[in-house]
Amino acid sequence: MINLDKSPLLLYKDSMLIRTKKIISPKVSSSPWVLIQSAASVLASLTIIFTASLFIPAPADAGGRDIFTAECATCHSITRPTRRPTVEEALNEKGPAMWYAGSKYKEGFISRWLQDPKPIRGMKYNSLTEKSEGGHMALDSKEAEEVAAYLQGLKSPDMLEVEIKPKATVRGRFIFQKKLGCYGCHTIRRGSRIVGGLTGPTLLGTAERLNPEWIYSYIKNPGAFTPRSPMPNYSKMLSEIKLKALVAYISVQK
Ligand code: HEC
Ligand code: HEC
Repeated sequence: MINLDKSPLLLYKDSMLIRTKKIISPKVSSSPWVLIQSAASVLASLTIIFTASLFIPAPADAGGRDIFTAECATCHSITRPTRRPTVEEALNEKGPAMWYAGSKYKEGFISRWLQDPKPIRGMKYNSLTEKSEGGHMALDSKEAEEVAAYLQGLKSPDMLEVEIKPKATVRGRFIFQKKLGCYGCHTIRRGSRIVGGLTGPTLLGTAERLNPEWIYSYIKNPGAFTPRSPMPNYSKMLSEIKLKALVAYISVQK
């Protein structure tokens, strides 16, 4: 019953209340037939969702990502660190970081290397005293290509834009071998001999392995990629011309 003593506004509110109550409390029927009907309709919508999901294509690199998660992630990190790792954290790393793999490696290298992995570092990873025994796990060509496609998609935001023409520059060789003594830590070919130290990765085979733009970005700011590493920052010692000559020289090493 509507109370006639109330103001028109309140009357309006009352009638709305009555209406809302009607809407929000529909008559609940518990007859088994209605229950079966609603169960059937839930089943039907689930079937539609499931069938639709069969037609949504998986991302092209999904297979590679699964292989990586299962077989590689314990040793290779794919997340960019948000701070400099502590010495302990750095020493616990079991392999080089992969979060910038797509910027660092030349197209084709990862897949080739994984099918026939030859040591890149002369020393065991993270050791200054123990020589590497090699023995990195190898993959068959299908798995290697899948995982390489996934890793090639991981790009770094720290890349600098530059154009480098790989070339055996005399200036680059001079800086590498004499001026800055890079080969104190990196092996390289001198004539027919392989010379240099084992603290850093070999730079033999760089022509097939590393993108010149990445080498440039790395030497300018090694800390952006390997935040706790014996690789010194030479950026203040190298003019732009000298740096480019050095990168051009490293980029042709076979
Ligand atoms: C037990 C740890 C371990 C596992 C597991 C492992 N790696 Fe490695 N990986 C290493 C180490 C250590 C190196 C450095 C080898 C060297 O320098 O000779 C390396 C090197 C690499 C390199 C060359 C990179 C470079 O710059 O030296 C690639 C690419 C790579 N691993 C990919 C993979 C993939 C893909 C998987 C999984 C299928 C995998 N790794 C599993 C430890 C591991
Ligand atoms: C004191 C030793 C040391 C010296 C000297 C040194 N490096 Fe390095 N360099 C390293 C180490 C160690 C790494 C590996 C970084 C890591 O993975 O933590 C490295 C990494 C690199 C890389 C990347 C290679 C890769 O596969 O990841 C390049 C390129 C490089 N150095 C170039 C140079 C150049 C050019 C010079 C001279 C101007 C130089 N380095 C001098 C220790 C050194």
